[in-house]
Amino acid sequence: VVQMDLPERVTFKEVGPRDGLQNESGVVSTEQKIEWINLLSQTGVSYIEVSSFVHPKWIPSLSDAEEVFRQIKRNSDITYAALIPNGKGIERALTVNVDEFAVFMSASETHNRKNINKTKMETISVLKEVVKEGNGAKKKTRGYVSTVFGCPYEGNVAVDEVKRVCEELLSIGVYEISLGDTTGIAHPKQVESVMNELHQEFGAGKFALHFHDTRGMALANTIAGLQSGVDIFDGSNGGLGGCPYAKGASGNVASEDLLFMLHEMGIDTGVDVNTLLKASSYIGRLFDKPLPSYQLKIFEGGLDHGLDS
Ligand code: HMG
Ligand code: MG
Repeated sequence: VVQMDLPERVTFKEVGPRDGLQNESGVVSTEQKIEWINLLSQTGVSYIEVSSFVHPKWIPSLSDAEEVFRQIKRNSDITYAALIPNGKGIERALTVNVDEFAVFMSASETHNRKNINKTKMETISVLKEVVKEGNGAKKKTRGYVSTVFGCPYEGNVAVDEVKRVCEELLSIGVYEISLGDTTGIAHPKQVESVMNELHQEFGAGKFALHFHDTRGMALANTIAGLQSGVDIFDGSNGGLGGCPYAKGASGNVASEDLLFMLHEMGIDTGVDVNTLLKASSYIGRLFDKPLPSYQLKIFEGGLDHGLDS
């Protein structure tokens, strides 16, 4: 018998409105984004990444970030966060009182340059200012590291590179690091070994996992993450999304698939999967091809989805 040592509770972070939509220009209107986020706010999630205050030329689909923040109905139990690349991003975010910031950079040099037009070294000094200004405005900052398990331009990424970037981000004051499998290339053994190294170096409790499901391995990787002691996971409602600077990258693991699995295993998240399915059903109808979510297919097909309604 294999004994699984799993956490009793997991914190789930919904990144669909940002990661799910950043690659989808011209499909979803500002009003529809607001409606979707309002539906997500009723699911019991504690964190929603609403949008990005990046350059609108780089990510046109999220150029309405201010308007979305202005018009969503906020639930005081939820942290409404956004990606912030630099000082200009903060300036914009503060005009609409974003609750929390998220900064991002890559473990690999080439993806970092393609994604934010700077070297890793230049990026750190910009992010240092973002975190500092955030602190001044009483905002916490989460950090993302992309290409942790592999880079679409460079291939393998040395775990020492990942450690160095984590060290830098923690030293400038991010409260948590979300480790991105940007192109869905990670496998469970690798997740286990990277997490063991990071926990040894930095202790437990500082890391979240952000799996894209390009190769259908996100749930297997989640199990490896749980067994390695990670209890914070990101997901995208419906499985929508992908990184525009990583060719072929598809969406994050669908939130409802991730949460269904966790709940079936007796792990509590505080999120209601049925309500989450109403949200993915809403956003899914706006696209002309079905979203990747398994639970959504079952829900829309009227099949028994194994949940109390
Ligand atoms: P840049 O062109 O190098 O910027 O872009 P710059 O600092 O040289 O400024 C050029 C002009 O842009 C200036 O205007 C700035 O004011 C303006 P000008 O003086 O020429 O008129 N500008 C801005 N305008 C609005 N908002 C801003 C802003 N910043 C500068 N924030 C920059 C550098 C970082 C801005 C650009 O490369 C960018 O926006 N990149 C964002 C890319 C992105 O969003 N990628 C996807 C998110 S990351 C991801 O998906 C991975 C993740 O999910 C984890 C994973 O899966 O691995 C997080
Ligand atoms: Mg991502």
